[in-house]
Amino acid sequence: MSDFLIQLGQNARARQIIKSLGLPIPMPQRLQRSRGPREQRPLGGQVAIFGAAPGGELGDEIARTLVQAGADTLVVGAASLLAPFAETGEAFGQLATQLSLDAPPDRLSADSLIFDASGVRTTPALRALYDFFHPLIRRLVRCGRVVVLGRPLASCTDAAWCAAQAALDGFVRSLSKEIGKRGSTAQLIRVEPGAEDRLVGVLRFVLSARSAFVTGQPLTVTGICRDDAGEQIWVRPLEGKVALVTGAARGIGAATARLMASEGAHVVCLDRPADDGPLSRIAREVGGDALPLDIAGEEAPSTIAEELQGRHGGVDVVVHNAGITRDRTLGKMKEQGWSQAIDVNLSAVIRVTDELTRGVLREGGRVICLSSVAGIAGNMGQTNYAASKAGLIGFVKQLASDLSGQGIAVNAVAPGFIETRMTRTIPLLIREAGRRLSSLGQGGLPPDVGEVITFLATPGAAGLTGAVIRVCGGSLIGA
Ligand code: NAI
Repeated sequence: MSDFLIQLGQNARARQIIKSLGLPIPMPQRLQRSRGPREQRPLGGQVAIFGAAPGGELGDEIARTLVQAGADTLVVGAASLLAPFAETGEAFGQLATQLSLDAPPDRLSADSLIFDASGVRTTPALRALYDFFHPLIRRLVRCGRVVVLGRPLASCTDAAWCAAQAALDGFVRSLSKEIGKRGSTAQLIRVEPGAEDRLVGVLRFVLSARSAFVTGQPLTVTGICRDDAGEQIWVRPLEGKVALVTGAARGIGAATARLMASEGAHVVCLDRPADDGPLSRIAREVGGDALPLDIAGEEAPSTIAEELQGRHGGVDVVVHNAGITRDRTLGKMKEQGWSQAIDVNLSAVIRVTDELTRGVLREGGRVICLSSVAGIAGNMGQTNYAASKAGLIGFVKQLASDLSGQGIAVNAVAPGFIETRMTRTIPLLIREAGRRLSSLGQGGLPPDVGEVITFLATPGAAGLTGAVIRVCGGSLIGA
């Protein structure tokens, strides 16, 4: 579905005229997205500017990420911040240089701004954020990236320290709203003490174009989930893995199947028997298998388990994407509409997962559930749908803890407004509101969600479990 404002914005004259009308919504920026499978150096040719508050503890991992991903890095502040870049930089032929903010070059521009705020323990120390970002934020390119790194509040041992780290959240969310109209994003990554070596994969993802529709997100990198992956593989990270994607005939599921296959996975595509035609086409396209089945059926869990065990000897990644809406205000909702939404979106997910965790889902595996911003914020006419999607968040949180010992990470992805068949049926005005009421001022595309799901399936995401990642362009609705 094309977005007329983005189309119009391609024309510089039209853009100028609309700007001069002073409309209450900004012209959305066409987002830069990744094409093709993952590369060794996704940030090659890009300029990253790195700074840190005194006492920053994440410099080594940040340097490792930027160097390995191929970024040309400029370092603001003390010469000691350059040290971690020296060793890795030499090995990769990628050295960092120091940048003085007193006299920055006139033509300086940055693809990303990365700030290590892990050393911020008092509120006056927050001033370091201002000192770094104030002179640089206008140097950020369109579709640029801002990342602030901090520590989880649970690791702060006094109230003032907690306040200082909590402040990072408000800072990042607000900044994401300021830079969203230029297609840029901002995230906060909190790293648990002891989980520093898991930062690289997460940071690499949020700095890349693959996270185009994720913004204003706090992510916590944890050491909860056992991780035996060893050395990171950045290219074709899903090689040799078997992935089940439900609801794969169209929309987000089809995009996910394509992306996972392009990263090396063998994808088992499941959808309703009535959708056999499009399902078979997708399965053929991605070189996977088609499994026509209603996931809410009585026999579905055992059929899926037998198929995965029998034909593939198990499964590594399970994506619970199939979902339905049966929207009605509660007073007008038929019992059937209530039950169908709960059965398909929530109960079936639990029953299927239950079956697969009895030996079919392999150690080191991944479970990814499609929740929704409606499940976080609630939505008019969606008591059934929002209940099912909120239920998934509770499911994911507990299951993550239950399966952490087997190295299985369990996460939820909560899309906002995504251009699919599901949102095409929404009345025009509500649809426009859904698109525009967000930092990026536009709807996302199915691959935007597929990219996040695929990332969560890779070994580089081992630091994320029990998380809910919103893929909503910074939707103003909800948290
Ligand atoms: P879609 O309607 O385009 O595709 C969903 C697929 O699930 C369809 O192919 C459908 O046949 C399949 N499906 C439904 N019930 C099934 C069942 N009982 N057994 C097997 N397959 C079944 O939906 P879309 O937009 O791609 O959504 C995918 C997921 O993302 C859903 O869980 C949805 O709730 C969630 N989501 C989507 C948003 C959006 O803006 N499109 C926003 C928030 C969440």
